Amino acid sequence: MVFRLIQAALRACMVTFGLVAILNITPAAIAAPGPVPADLPQAVAEIESLDAMRSGLASTLEGQTEMPTGETFKQVCKPVGMRAKQLSQERGWQVKQIANRYRNPAHAPDNLHARMALAKFEQDPDLVGFWDQETMGDQTGVRYYRRINVEATCLACHGAKGDRPDFVKAKYPDDRAYDFNVGDLRGMYAVFVPATTQADVQAALQ
Ligand code: HEC
Repeated sequence: MVFRLIQAALRACMVTFGLVAILNITPAAIAAPGPVPADLPQAVAEIESLDAMRSGLASTLEGQTEMPTGETFKQVCKPVGMRAKQLSQERGWQVKQIANRYRNPAHAPDNLHARMALAKFEQDPDLVGFWDQETMGDQTGVRYYRRINVEATCLACHGAKGDRPDFVKAKYPDDRAYDFNVGDLRGMYAVFVPATTQADVQAALQ
């Protein structure tokens, strides 16, 4: 039993460091707890592509002089939310976006750990992501937090309050996601990976 645990921990470490090398994120930027669920490195990779997707979509607005409309929005942050939902369903994770200054109230911090994670990112601009052992509902597992920074292309919709597109003002009366500057912390992704996902069960049986 103990041997199996050590084996699992070693495997997790090897996978993690392999991934860190691929993503070119310095190990210091990602703090790992002890043993982690086997599909956590996949969660990290999926979040990297989710974030790259938003940056890519937002950059298509660059150089546009027209105000973004509901139609344009469908091509930026909405696909990110949809992909997060899809990932949750496909993988059995809970993939969320969380922010103190949120636009959609569904993205408010959902527990004390999330509040602390936001404070941690706020304090340490070099921290890219980290893992936290958590219990959500009746499930134990690990939650991966990954920062989201404001880029120049985000300001079309998250810049000065008065400059927000009309569809934002109309659709989000309680909006708090404006007046950001480039480099500010916009929020974070949070991926809860239950300790009982299939990959773990398989790893335990090996
Ligand atoms: C075309 C307008 C538009 C652009 C450009 C845009 N956003 Fe958004 N963003 C929105 C809207 C609208 C929402 C609310 C989506 C919803 O209802 O789930 C949102 C939501 C978010 C959220 C989820 C948290 C919240 O406040 O509800 C994050 C994080 C976010 N945006 C980050 C960014 C980043 C980072 C960029 C630039 C790379 C960016 N956005 C560019 C319109 C935009």
